Amino acid sequence: MLQLAVFVSGRGSNLRSIHMAIKERRLTAEIVAVVTNLDSAPARSFAEGEGIPCLSVEGKFPDEQARVMLDFLEAQSADFIALAGYVKLIPAEVVAAFPQRMVNIHPALLPAFGGKGMYGRRVHEAVLASGVQVSGATVHLVDEEYDRGPIVMQRSVIVHSDDTVDSLAERVLDVEHTIYPEALQLFAERRVEVIDNRIFIRN
Ligand code: GRF
Repeated sequence: MLQLAVFVSGRGSNLRSIHMAIKERRLTAEIVAVVTNLDSAPARSFAEGEGIPCLSVEGKFPDEQARVMLDFLEAQSADFIALAGYVKLIPAEVVAAFPQRMVNIHPALLPAFGGKGMYGRRVHEAVLASGVQVSGATVHLVDEEYDRGPIVMQRSVIVHSDDTVDSLAERVLDVEHTIYPEALQLFAERRVEVIDNRIFIRN
């Protein structure tokens, strides 16, 4: 069973979908910690309402952030991190402490439409401006760069010619809510292997 820490900055719909998947026994995990960089994140209120221990690092300097995060994660016995809309770079010390034990979800098909500054509506704006006919969601391992680690799972959606940022974002978000718990379950079942920076899923 994964002892999950979920990092959030905003609305928290992925946190909710992970929470729901656990309740419905589609995901063998427990959310033992939520970390946020924003005191006012709705995701934080949800977590607190569910009795999940929360840490906010708002206003803390980077060095201090790493230290308090690591202390908190250890105190909660977290053994895996899921970034769910966390908009800040994770301190290198935290990445190093969770080798191949930290994933992120991104609302496009990486490696396209990712990297620094590519989050939220900007991703879907860029997708629409490019004229591609498919988009989707990507779950990937996290390293020290934004949106760069090996890809664990992707699922595509069709981009319609009359799509707006909102309609595309909604279609992608539905897919996110499905694949994030599925991808996490692969780790819970210890089926993910990383060889030469590529992911192999065992049957
Ligand atoms: C999602 O679109 C996710 O892909 C991205 O940030 C958004 C978070 O949404 N990394 P929510 O807070 O989970 O609703």
